[in-house]
Amino acid sequence: MLEIRNLTVEFGSAGSKSVGRPAVRDLNLSISEGEVLGLVGESGSGKSVTSLALMRLLPPSARYSGEILFSSNGQSQNLLQLSAENMRQLRGSTLAMIFQEPMTALNPVMRVGDQIAEAILAHAKISKKEAANRAVQAMIDVAIPDAARRSRDYPHQLSGGMRQRIMIAMAIANHPKLLIADEPTTALDVTVQAQILELLGELRAKFGLTMLFISHDLAVISQIADRVAVMYAGSVVEMGSKHDIFRSPAHPYTRGLLDAVPTLKTDRGQPLRTIEGTVPPPNSQLSGCPFEPRCEFRIAECTRAIPELVEVAPSHFARCPVINHK
Ligand SMILES: Nc1ncnc2c1ncn2[C@@H]1O[C@H](COP(=O)(O)OP(=O)(O)OP(=O)(O)O)[C@@H](O)[C@H]1O
Ligand code: SF4
Ligand SMILES: [Mg+2]
Repeated sequence: MLEIRNLTVEFGSAGSKSVGRPAVRDLNLSISEGEVLGLVGESGSGKSVTSLALMRLLPPSARYSGEILFSSNGQSQNLLQLSAENMRQLRGSTLAMIFQEPMTALNPVMRVGDQIAEAILAHAKISKKEAANRAVQAMIDVAIPDAARRSRDYPHQLSGGMRQRIMIAMAIANHPKLLIADEPTTALDVTVQAQILELLGELRAKFGLTMLFISHDLAVISQIADRVAVMYAGSVVEMGSKHDIFRSPAHPYTRGLLDAVPTLKTDRGQPLRTIEGTVPPPNSQLSGCPFEPRCEFRIAECTRAIPELVEVAPSHFARCPVINHK
């Protein structure tokens, strides 16, 4: 359904010569119909830039190259080449997005039911009354109790979890082909986070949703994704089935992320392992593997060239020539 080919995104004014690494570099990803792809990586790795490029919501200073091929109803089109008007029609109907912080995405002075109805009216020629009814139905779909009454609430009258349900209702109200969820549970406490993940799982089963699910948290990704892509410094460094990534991670960065996830076996008296250092900022000069300064497996060759993404097992790819995970 979605195939991203060699996507590179750089920021800077038109004509300015870019230095160092782009925010997203040579990214390849695909998502099949009905699949949930989890995109994971630390802060600054380029997850949101990727999702905003997909929605064509990046500021004008962003320069793209590559292709984002999206197939729907037997037609394939490159989203990067669609007119602004065609893209506006896709956004909110065929392609929908849920953001991390519902309070900033919702209008504080508009009743939540009216906001969902407005999103429906932007894409359907129906009466306001019909749109209001569909908005309440969408609120029922996301399990908001007493939906008809709550539809008259303003965002501040709802809890964080309920506000995120409203955002999800708005996103699914037009039955999107692809739902992009960018850290949809990060701002919520753990119990509410679990409820939202459960809800997304139920909606997926009910509507056959295809999803790009973004999180910095591998534990969250493990609960929802079928396949996982791990991003580091603007590139995918590993990609495979959930089983591959969690059972036989092939890239040192993925291994580091996994070591940082608490499990039932974790000794509570011991601090969790973390990966030392931080993601190199965009525009920093890179000659070799971007993970090299933090990598416990590095060898002299690692600084010579940026490693290619290679297939280490069927449909399991990693960007590290040093580690042989078999
Ligand atoms: N509008 C912009 N102009 C310039 N640089 C940007 C812009 N948006 C993002 N960047 C840079 O691109 C890099 C990737 O950012 P991005 O927001 O995609 O990270 P992320 O993986 O989503 O991180 P987080 O987990 O914090 O959300 C960052 O270093 C950021 O500073
Ligand atoms: S290429 Fe070298 S530095 Fe990069 S992840 Fe592999 S071992 Fe580590
Ligand atoms: Mg982000």
